[in-house]
Amino acid sequence: MTRPLRATGGARPQILRLPEFRDLRGCLSAVEGLRDVPFAIERVYWITSVPPSARRGRHAHRDVLEVIAAAAGSFTVDCDDGDSPSEFSLHAPSDALLVPAPVWREVRDFSPGAVCLVLASGPYREEEYIRDREEFSQLVDAG
Ligand code: TYD
Repeated sequence: MTRPLRATGGARPQILRLPEFRDLRGCLSAVEGLRDVPFAIERVYWITSVPPSARRGRHAHRDVLEVIAAAAGSFTVDCDDGDSPSEFSLHAPSDALLVPAPVWREVRDFSPGAVCLVLASGPYREEEYIRDREEFSQLVDAG
């Protein structure tokens, strides 16, 4: 049986300001799970070498929460929680986007050399992905 899906706690995607330490030597941003992000961090991955015309993401997660940051460069994240679409331009390492579940996300307009850093609340499990937009729409409508 398909269980009802709702964005976590009714939460919407939102920008989190991460601690940043900037001095003449550069800039350091740090994140601690359950302190700076509202989950224990179980997985970290990063995406690089994205051509300007390419799109990443194009899926939702059933359970996994993610925080997305531009560790270098910039890109735009389009989100849809089934209720209201939103768009976030990420261009500073200390600005991170919290994406609840389930939220459809697409990442586009990567600048040259951009690094998309993602913190996730759970391990990689393909069965936890919703990769079909129509399936996502039906699930959030049913929820
Ligand atoms: P994909 O979901 O297509 O990337 P994106 O969300 O950026 O569009 O993942 C690309 C490949 O990487 C795919 O074969 C699954 C694999 N992958 C892992 O093995 N572990 C992970 O944590 C992630 C996020 C992806």
